[in-house]
Amino acid sequence: MNIIDIIAKKRDGKELSEEEIKYFIEEYTANRIEDYQAAALVMAIYINRMSYRETKDLTMAMANSGDILDLSKLGENVVDKHSTGGVGDKVTLILAPLIASLGIPVAKMSGRGLGFTGGTADKIEAIPGYNTSISEKDFIDNVKKIGISLITQTLNLAPADKKIYALRDTIACTESIPLIASSIMSKKIASGANKIVLDVTCGYGAFMKNLEQAEELSKTMIEIGKLANRETICIITDMNEPLGYAVGNSLEVIEAINFLNGDMPEDLKDVVIELGAYMIKLAGKGDNIEENKNKLLENIKNGKAYNKFVELVQNQGGDISYLEDVNKFEKATIIKEVRAEEEGYIKEINAETIGKISCDLGAGRKTKSDKIDLTVGIVLHKKVGDYTKKGELIATVYANNEEKANYAEKEILNTYKIGQEKVTKKTVIEIIS
Ligand code: URA
Repeated sequence: MNIIDIIAKKRDGKELSEEEIKYFIEEYTANRIEDYQAAALVMAIYINRMSYRETKDLTMAMANSGDILDLSKLGENVVDKHSTGGVGDKVTLILAPLIASLGIPVAKMSGRGLGFTGGTADKIEAIPGYNTSISEKDFIDNVKKIGISLITQTLNLAPADKKIYALRDTIACTESIPLIASSIMSKKIASGANKIVLDVTCGYGAFMKNLEQAEELSKTMIEIGKLANRETICIITDMNEPLGYAVGNSLEVIEAINFLNGDMPEDLKDVVIELGAYMIKLAGKGDNIEENKNKLLENIKNGKAYNKFVELVQNQGGDISYLEDVNKFEKATIIKEVRAEEEGYIKEINAETIGKISCDLGAGRKTKSDKIDLTVGIVLHKKVGDYTKKGELIATVYANNEEKANYAEKEILNTYKIGQEKVTKKTVIEIIS
């Protein structure tokens, strides 16, 4: 077999065999295929797409390119969740302890942010002392001991995806359904869960810009799940505006802590509770979705979810005094208020623009080696559908650089679209299983 023939075959729109896909993944992971050849093949896949069968073969080859975690010791049904990415997405920080507080084991591996979407592993590290890089043994032992562990991807899971994902980023090949589906599902399969709930985001701040694309991505991942014996449910959620109010690492952790203490922004609550209800169902702990939602809300009300978060943080070396008093989180030096320039209903706040502004302030990485500033970001005070008077506070910028703070203010004002008609919105759009 040779890579040039494989590239030519996909370039000409033909279907690759399982052996050809495996060959490409094994050889590329072992550095025996050059980046420019991999880039040509990835571009050919981007343009000519892949059948479900090819996408499944690509997924399994990437999953098998490294270790596959065995979580069967944790129970018959081990549930995992994943989001296709967004702005202000602190769902895992809330949902992981919430699910664990119901006695369902949570062994969560989260990524770091690249570009304008943040990563949960970066966010939780805003809690001083919290260690996301523990061994596989400690990870499993923690789940056995307290029912939860949240770490970053330090283990050798799906290394082929790591290489291809980084490559895609540099050759404008991120927004491809077979490539996204295989990237996400290979990591989920390697992470060991046999039940998967996926938050498929849709809108300005997501890879999938419209519902049709989000549905197609969902169907592809469900189909791969079936072929790989992993029951998968997709929940399509709105990502036109940021989720919740806070964007930026420690700002999002503070919002998650407040949520677990009962202060729940409506859109964030809708996503957390919907995903959680399906996680309970897939874990075999309740078929009735409405009842599951009530169980989740009850564990926020009675403090069990918050207490589980405290246990998680303490168990991984984090300073829990920051949870008890969120004012302890280090603040950015410049706090700039952004005030509405006209009166009316908020029609639109482009999540991608807010994500990019936040990244520019230092909350995200433009390249893999960039260091994140955990203190900076944006807190929105008005969201789509809200009414604002002229001069009212619509957002606060947290910055460590005057010039960047001024730029952020200008861009935020540009991205807030205000009109005279009342706007309605829906955060959870569709469930596909
Ligand atoms: N998240 C992933 O893990 N991979 C993608 O390709 C897109 C989002």
